[in-house]
Amino acid sequence: MTNLVKVDPQSPQRDAIEKAAAILRAGGLVAFPTETVYGLGAHALDGVAVRRIFAAKERPDWDPLIVHVRDVAMARSLARSVPSVFNALTKRFWPGPLTLVVEKAARVPDEVTARRPTVALRMPRHPVAATLLAAARLPIAAPSANRFGRPSPTRAEHVVEDLGGCVDLILDAGPTPMGVESTVLDLMQSPPAILRPGGITREELESLLGKVSLAASVSDELAAEGLAGPGMTTKHYAPRAQVELFESGAALHNRADELRRQNKRIGIVEGADDAQRLARTIFAQMRTLDAQSVDFILCVLPRAEGIGLAVRDRLRRAAGVAKKR
Ligand code: TXA
Ligand code: MG
Repeated sequence: MTNLVKVDPQSPQRDAIEKAAAILRAGGLVAFPTETVYGLGAHALDGVAVRRIFAAKERPDWDPLIVHVRDVAMARSLARSVPSVFNALTKRFWPGPLTLVVEKAARVPDEVTARRPTVALRMPRHPVAATLLAAARLPIAAPSANRFGRPSPTRAEHVVEDLGGCVDLILDAGPTPMGVESTVLDLMQSPPAILRPGGITREELESLLGKVSLAASVSDELAAEGLAGPGMTTKHYAPRAQVELFESGAALHNRADELRRQNKRIGIVEGADDAQRLARTIFAQMRTLDAQSVDFILCVLPRAEGIGLAVRDRLRRAAGVAKKR
């Protein structure tokens, strides 16, 4: 009765991939792992199929989707034009957790881009995603496979929890290796602008491009008032509990003691001393703590460098900092 199939994360079973590819070609929905989080995929050139993604996620129709591609040639076929940095970026970082926003080709349906003149493109590195793209021979539109407003899914169980009944097939390859989503880089701006920090770090981008800018809502200083691109105008995820963030473990423990004296139920996010590990587990920890209905979730922020920038961004959104205007 289940629509979940376990696959090997390194060399996924042919029959499962062929079945998933056939569902996509027929306009169905397939959830699949990427190196960042699980995606909810549909045939990107089929507007009706893409609308099913929005319905399943209860995602507002103004929030555009990322299109996943098999290779650079497929990416170019979906762009009207690409700036010169596109080649250098794809050569260095694809396949991988970098999404590039470029001018869209006419054949990309408005459903995908929310009627924008641009399209977000990414070539994933996870063997299951790559094999699926090769088998389907289609671009796959895929947002994270969570219900809108829930933490992104890093395990197939999270997809089942949020979307179980609405997906035709879930490819379960175990936990995703990175845990936070791809970096979204807007190439329509000069210098390119990070709309969402993620798996490819700002430092890595700057080593290739020189300066990149950080969308206002991403930078800590401006987070409280600045709002930039789509998806930045809304807090992505709001736990029932109040999230409080700290710059040091000592500050967190003082606050924890104070809350305990008030008989509050608290959950402390683990692994904050290691940004990579925190990236891998943060969304799963939020789901677990939410399910325990704690009153407060406390977390020490990782430093604003490397993958820590992405983790800080997700934590600040969960705390509601970035949504205040
Ligand atoms: O790692 C990831 O990127 C995952 C996996 C599944 O690939 N996908 C993902 O998709 O996180 P989603 O839909 O949850 O986030 C896509 C982000 C949103 O913030 C959206 O607003 C932005 O990309 N985006 C998509 N198209 C855009 C465009 N044309 N211009 C600006 N931002 C865009
Ligand atoms: Mg998402």
